[in-house]
Amino acid sequence: MVESNRLAARVPLTDGARQHYRKNGYVHFPGILSRDEVAEYRAAAEELVRKEGPELWGPEEEVQVHYVANAWRKHDLLKKLALHPVITGLASALAEVPLRLYSSDILLKKPRRALPTLVHDDETGLPMSNASTTLSAWIALVDVPEERGCLSFMPGSHSRADSECQGHMTSFANFVNIKDIWPDYAWRPWTTVPVRAGDVTFHHCRTVHRAGVNDTDEARIGYGVVYMDAGATYLPGVQDEHLHHLRPGQALDGPDFPLIEAG
Ligand code: NI
Repeated sequence: MVESNRLAARVPLTDGARQHYRKNGYVHFPGILSRDEVAEYRAAAEELVRKEGPELWGPEEEVQVHYVANAWRKHDLLKKLALHPVITGLASALAEVPLRLYSSDILLKKPRRALPTLVHDDETGLPMSNASTTLSAWIALVDVPEERGCLSFMPGSHSRADSECQGHMTSFANFVNIKDIWPDYAWRPWTTVPVRAGDVTFHHCRTVHRAGVNDTDEARIGYGVVYMDAGATYLPGVQDEHLHHLRPGQALDGPDFPLIEAG
């Protein structure tokens, strides 16, 4: 009881932040991690990148992000970060449903190398049903001003009609340019959200977002964590080779998808 009260006090979710997330489909929390935590987790991320070798997302000349997938299963400290009580507490409070950890990736843009991250929403690439409350945390492990490739969000885009969403994708060949399915797209404003090391942003899986290039001499290191509805089931999609032992419709549960304890 004492522990949960202490935790609740540390979860900085104001009514204003909750309303901002509901209305806009994203929200920014400055200073969630201390300087010491940032240093510890950044070192862990750099260590894992060195050890695993960055996996490529497409041919080298087309790389938008170098990443290490499912990092929480590969490094104890990155598991600790994916299950960080303040971050999971915020995720639970924003989603307003019980959650499980789906995945966590180190998201790295090399200095002066990476291309912009294409406009997309996360729902399209997630191999799961019941994704209506799924959300992602983006944890900054270095300062990420605009010129280092921070995220930009399209406020309110998570509320667009189903007909204006691509929905589930089973092959990257099926990827649809959002301009072709959402007539309003070109007329909607973007919000760019520079983040300092230790800040966390959350975005709903339908929120349209993108990231710029890294035009600085320092790597952009972020940690993206997807928290899904605890009742989500497997729906074959893309980048889901690690789930091929599951049957379609099978629950994404058990120790591979830890239940999040609400703050
Ligand atoms: Ni994304």
